[in-house]
Amino acid sequence: MHFKKMLAVLALCSPLGLVPAAHAQDVIKVGLIASFSGPFADYGRQMQAGIRTYMQQHGDIVAGKKIVIIARDTTGPAPEVAKRLAQELVVRDKVDFLAGFGLTPEALAAAPIAEQAKKPMIIMNAATSVITAKSNYIARVSMTLPQTSQPMGSWAAKNGMKKVVSLVADYGPGIDAEAAFKSSFTAGGGQLVESIRVPLRNPEFAPYIQRIRDAKPDAVFVFVPAGEQSIGFMKAYRERGLAEAGIRVIGTGDLTDDHVLNAMGDPALGAITTSHYSAAHDSPENKAFLKTYAAANPEAGRPNFMAVAAYDGMAAIYQVARQLDGKIDGDKAMAVLKGLKLISPRGPITIDPVTRDIVQTVYVRKVEKVGRELYNVEFDKFANVKDPGK
Ligand code: PHB
Repeated sequence: MHFKKMLAVLALCSPLGLVPAAHAQDVIKVGLIASFSGPFADYGRQMQAGIRTYMQQHGDIVAGKKIVIIARDTTGPAPEVAKRLAQELVVRDKVDFLAGFGLTPEALAAAPIAEQAKKPMIIMNAATSVITAKSNYIARVSMTLPQTSQPMGSWAAKNGMKKVVSLVADYGPGIDAEAAFKSSFTAGGGQLVESIRVPLRNPEFAPYIQRIRDAKPDAVFVFVPAGEQSIGFMKAYRERGLAEAGIRVIGTGDLTDDHVLNAMGDPALGAITTSHYSAAHDSPENKAFLKTYAAANPEAGRPNFMAVAAYDGMAAIYQVARQLDGKIDGDKAMAVLKGLKLISPRGPITIDPVTRDIVQTVYVRKVEKVGRELYNVEFDKFANVKDPGK
């Protein structure tokens, strides 16, 4: 093993990754599969920080058992690695749950392992609609792209936008976002004049931005995976003078991801997005979440929607453990997860008992300066939104 890689593995082992020397029957093991290195390293870190927050608030013993997180790095996007890690976690580490999954291709690759092993698989981000249909043991506590994009299309049409160009990452969630936005926007009388798809790996936004400029739309609707790509898009948007040309930015909350929003700076001001979570969400649950998050993860910066989904995923796992009195069985766990209701830092959420997908409020937000920082300030909402494809 390379020295650098060894360090990374050691880092993952501490403090959440270590299996204590307890008897197997005394622990409940959660295999956390996500990228902790590479371009999507932030996804794993956000999830781990969200999990740590939940465990800080609620302790690590449930129904007399110690909850142990075994974190594994896909280095992704790397579906084949995610699949191998899921297999190893099930066979060798004998985990009770699989969890994590920031990227759709990794969730899809691991789904057959969950299905064969009858292991509950808690999706903490990956957001292509079809994922939950790939195994009866999958439950999603994050979102789906159609769930957030369809409200954006309705909002845009209602608020005077006539011509929009879409720009999405060319894989599952992007294609879902494009289709859902198009259906509600055109139903509201708008016209999607051009649909641009950009590669998932290392997209170069400048040429696409020029195409958008040439099409002279009222706005560009954007889905790119949260993080560095959002910064890349906003940089190109600024450099090519789209704002000056009167072309507004709308999109899903992935674009104005709380964790990188301040790094985007003023060009992000005024962007309208739809999403299930904003760090600015005003509720006692969110205030408590933010406070413990900062205390438990002093170096982590602001939590984003992935941290919240991981936090809620742990709440779901704790609920299963309590109801099954610490004896985890795949089918019985799924029976608890179906119909589960939680008050999340984002607001009330339910797991649909039929689809095992999340039902939640989708908020419309605008990037504004609050004090010296940028925030997604919620100003409208769509309550009880299901994944529209289901
Ligand atoms: C996904 O791969 O499903 C995904 C990744 C990043 C996002 C949303 C969805 O921000």
